[in-house]
Amino acid sequence: MRIGYGEDAHRLAPGRRLVLGGVAIPSELGPVAHSDGDALLHAVTDAVLSAVAAGDIGSLFPDTAPENAGRDSRDFLRAALERARVRGYRVAQVSATVVLDRPRLGPHRAAIAARLAGLLGLPEDRVGLSFKTSEGLAPDHLQARAVALLLPL
Ligand code: C5P
Ligand code: MG
Repeated sequence: MRIGYGEDAHRLAPGRRLVLGGVAIPSELGPVAHSDGDALLHAVTDAVLSAVAAGDIGSLFPDTAPENAGRDSRDFLRAALERARVRGYRVAQVSATVVLDRPRLGPHRAAIAARLAGLLGLPEDRVGLSFKTSEGLAPDHLQARAVALLLPL
């Protein structure tokens, strides 16, 4: 088996869309990012890539490339899953944490887990999500961390 770890951070600003795990979350603040800023998908994507030592998001999709501007982060995850597949691995489990002061994500946990499970081709009980505030230390930050367990195809 293989294990991979990934993380991501984005600064938050007014008037940006907040999307986590592919789910749009009503919020006054959203990530400033070259892509859609889905930090959860970015962390999971890097975890999958790291598990098979296939680089990271930036090495696959440079944020200097115009075609990656505003890009749907599901593309990044699909590319990572394909990199894993050609190396003979599939994702068996993901565990992730999102750090965000506001809004509360608990009410969106089921929706985010279902969407993420769908993208990963996993049953929902293989996608664990926890949410944390920064306790006011970083009210304008969005952070995500993830580990992925991969098994041979
Ligand atoms: O960070 P803290 O320990 O104070 O978070 C308490 C609980 O609030 C978390 O365990 C989580 O269930 C919830 N939470 C949330 N949405 C956030 C941050 C925390 O639902 N953005
Ligand atoms: Mg990111």
